[in-house]
Amino acid sequence: MLILNKTAGVFSKPPKRKVYEFLRSFNIYPGTLFLHKLVLGIETSCDDTAAAVVDETGNVLGEAMHSQTEVHLKTGGIIPPVAQQLHRENIQRIVQEALSVSRISPSELSAIATTIKPGLALSLGVGLTFSLQLVDQLKKPFIPIHHMEAHALTIRLTNNVEFPFLVLLISGGHCLLALVRGVSDFLLLGKSLDIAPGDMLDKVARRLSLIRHPECSTMSGGKAIEHLAKQGNRFHFDIKPPMQRAKNCDFSFSGLQHAIDKTIMQKEKEEGIEKGQILCSAADIAAAVQHTTACHLAKRTHRAILFCKQRNLLPQSNAVLVVSGGVASNLYIRKALEIVTNATQCTLLCPPPRLCTDNGIMIAWNGIERLRAGLGILHNVEGIRYEPKCPLGVDISKEVGEAAIKVPRLKMKI
Ligand code: KG4
Ligand code: ZN
Repeated sequence: MLILNKTAGVFSKPPKRKVYEFLRSFNIYPGTLFLHKLVLGIETSCDDTAAAVVDETGNVLGEAMHSQTEVHLKTGGIIPPVAQQLHRENIQRIVQEALSVSRISPSELSAIATTIKPGLALSLGVGLTFSLQLVDQLKKPFIPIHHMEAHALTIRLTNNVEFPFLVLLISGGHCLLALVRGVSDFLLLGKSLDIAPGDMLDKVARRLSLIRHPECSTMSGGKAIEHLAKQGNRFHFDIKPPMQRAKNCDFSFSGLQHAIDKTIMQKEKEEGIEKGQILCSAADIAAAVQHTTACHLAKRTHRAILFCKQRNLLPQSNAVLVVSGGVASNLYIRKALEIVTNATQCTLLCPPPRLCTDNGIMIAWNGIERLRAGLGILHNVEGIRYEPKCPLGVDISKEVGEAAIKVPRLKMKI
């Protein structure tokens, strides 16, 4: 299969730029004189086909993305073979678009970085197969990327953040707390024992039939919950945060989901409506579930900060907490986390929303970080496989639980 057709015009160079491009082929930039690394990043781990070209100073030269959200909203969740087919249909166009927007020739790339773990097997396979063909065609080094590592390091593209820092990654597919000590040096402090918060919010939104709500029909579940919660009163429902007795940094969201399912069923009976119709109390339920989710995330994060400070893993003051992933765009949850960082003299940082969700930029940037650190750059890709499941870093969550740190109560006045 032909991947890049250099004669098709997309990558042909306009004559007036010839001298400039010639100089750049020697890494010489008119007006400046420094070495520039350029990485193409490719992301297909879930339901977004994304690509970007980023340079070593964090400049995004080009970016393109095809989101499958609308298709999956209609089917009520991601159907892996459908996601795979959509990735196949779009990957070449998306990579070509990112490259042509960046106005570089593929020969100028220093490396190609692609998410190979963790994620949906069928989706990861499309990105990896495509990338390996490209690597072979262009004779470039390959940098395999861990999707969660990329989420965690994104903040270093937008902010001047030094290691170590704490990261909370919350999305539809992930939920973890980790200490980031270096580009590829992570301590896993806690993770969800069942589903991720975004998955739970998506399920609750589906159960509330928010797709039929005129204000929410095009929103993801989590966004719809946040939107509706603004109109609701969380005090109408008392939903307890999960795992209150477990003094660790793990999370759980499926119990919460079932508790809300029961509440919805009861309310349907009370309001005399059928499953599939929208409850009068939907906004109150959304407000309650959002609040409970925020409190649960805040409590575990608070414990992680205290643990890291107790073990001198983080500085005593001005430590950084980074929150990323699709759920991090929720402003209510951010405020809850801000209460925690204020109480612990930490700084809360979130990448901008478009970099919180899956994107190609974070993969390209992770490639740059790895190039600079000289870590995991492959010149021979033989035997490289994708890994649907792959933990991040060294798991010390048991040790965190054994420390059994009691977390002082904070008023969650949001
Ligand atoms: O990072 P992301 O785009 O994809 C992965 O899951 O990897 O995150 C998507 C998730 C979905 O579950 C979506 O419902 C949730 O992030 N989400 C939100 C908000 N916007 C997106 N959750 C809460 N509040 C939001 N504003
Ligand atoms: Zn993600």
